[in-house]
Amino acid sequence: MARFLAFDVYGTLIDTAGVTDGLRTLVGDNAPIFAKQWREKQLEYSFRRALMQDYVDFSVCTAQSLLYTCKRFNVALSGAEQERLLAFYRALPAYPDVAPGLALLASLPVHLFAFSNGQPDDLEVLLQSAGIRHYFEGVVSLYDVRTYKPNPAAYAYFHRAARTGGSETWLISSNPFDIIGAQATGMRAVWLQRDPTAIFDPWDVEPTVTATSLADIVRLFGNPIAP
Ligand code: 2OP
Repeated sequence: MARFLAFDVYGTLIDTAGVTDGLRTLVGDNAPIFAKQWREKQLEYSFRRALMQDYVDFSVCTAQSLLYTCKRFNVALSGAEQERLLAFYRALPAYPDVAPGLALLASLPVHLFAFSNGQPDDLEVLLQSAGIRHYFEGVVSLYDVRTYKPNPAAYAYFHRAARTGGSETWLISSNPFDIIGAQATGMRAVWLQRDPTAIFDPWDVEPTVTATSLADIVRLFGNPIAP
C-alpha cells in the first residue's frame, strides 16, 4: 500500500530561527529570544483564530505577532524594517538535512506532500527559495479551509486534498501540537526531534515514531516492515 507523507513546513522543513541574523542589526543580542517569542506568538494567534473561527491569512498572524513582539521588547521598527523582516520570513532556509533527505525519500514508493498553515503563494515561494519544492507532489495549504492545525478539520482536509483514499498517511512534524492533533484523528506521525532538549507535551500520548533527522525518516520508510 502506498504511503502518503505529509510534511509540516514551518519549524520542520524550514528553520523559523533563520530570521535571527536579520534581527541582529535591529535588536542586537536579543535576536534569538526575539525570534522565539515571535514564532510562539504566531502559533498562539493561529490557535486562537481557529478556536474563535475568525480566520485571517497566516501571513497576518505572522505580521501581528511581529508587532506584539516589538512591543514586548520595546523595539520601534519603521514600516520598511517590518517589511524587511516579513520578507525574510517569506524566504527562510531549510534545515541542512532536508534537501538530502527528501532526495532519498523521493526514490522510495511514497507520496510526498507539504502540509501547512501557510498561505499557498507564500508556501510556493518559500519552498522554491529553499530549493525543495520539486520533491513534493503537492502543497496542501489550510488557507483553503480557513482554519489552522490542530483543528481536526485540518487533518481531514489533508486526506481530501491529497486524495489519500484508504492509504496509510503519516504526518512528519517537529511541532508536538501537530503530532498530537494528527494522531487524534487516526493518522500516524513521526515527531522530528532535531533538538534533544525539545519537550513533547506530557498528554499521555506518544508519537508513533520519534526521529532526530530526515536520515532517520529515510531509514524508517525505506524499511518494508516499518511500523
Ligand atoms: C505549519 O503549519 C505549524 O507552522 C506550522 O507549517
